[in-house]
Amino acid sequence: MKLMSAQNFISRITAPQITARKGKEPIVCLTAYDAPTAAILDEHCDLILVGDSVGMVVHGLTTTVGVTLDMMIMHGQAVMRASKRALVVVDLPFGSYEDSPETAFKNASRVMMETGCQAVKIESGSYAAETIAYLVERGIPVMSHVGLRPQSMNVLGGFRARGRRKEVADEIVENAIAAAEAGSFAVVVEGVSEVLADKVTRAVSIPTIGIGASASCDGQILVTPDMLGQFERVPKFVKKYGDMKGLVESAAKAYADEVGARSFPTEANTYKFTKK
Ligand code: KIV
Repeated sequence: MKLMSAQNFISRITAPQITARKGKEPIVCLTAYDAPTAAILDEHCDLILVGDSVGMVVHGLTTTVGVTLDMMIMHGQAVMRASKRALVVVDLPFGSYEDSPETAFKNASRVMMETGCQAVKIESGSYAAETIAYLVERGIPVMSHVGLRPQSMNVLGGFRARGRRKEVADEIVENAIAAAEAGSFAVVVEGVSEVLADKVTRAVSIPTIGIGASASCDGQILVTPDMLGQFERVPKFVKKYGDMKGLVESAAKAYADEVGARSFPTEANTYKFTKK
């Protein structure tokens, strides 16, 4: 008996397939927030994260704390429309999942239903295990996030690398183990030393996805506008693979010069309708 129609089934990489890559082929991940970028990244990435970094790199906020569920849903929809291969994960923003597993389910299910994404990500402090298990049991794959947790920057006092003190390093390892045991399919490890990243990677049975966490992780992620060179100042761990800022600046200047000199538009950019 056929259990459901395969009519509209689009074959994307799945959360279990990402988990199965632990310790094997590196997992390639980047963030995207809009359709044109997602369409380009889709071919090159195993996983696209619609990160709440959107608040900072697209909307000009100073932290991710002001990002709302509606913002995440709108950007998630754009990324889903333009991608067809990568696993798409949408961040649950600050305030949408911390107070109870029930609140987390209500908001995560809304994200899944309204965007069509295949998983959500939550920043996973010691309180998170119960919520992760609750979501996973109810059909929502969860990617966790330990180490530097940007949504907690007001408590942490800034965006600094974490785990210099032994108690903090131990807590990060414990949070990752708890998140894995609760059923997360992967865990982002942000802003930690190579030694600590290696310890976390060995301690958990799920892939670790590093950002500022050395080559010891099972995969890597960067915030796409950072790696494209859209900003002058980026954290030490970012490598700029392009010069987006330079490209936009020189294109804008060339355009302004040509409009000022009336050398744009030319004949080639002009409609010619013949009169009847
Ligand atoms: O919001 C984001 O882009 C993230 C990455 C830094 C992993 O969480």
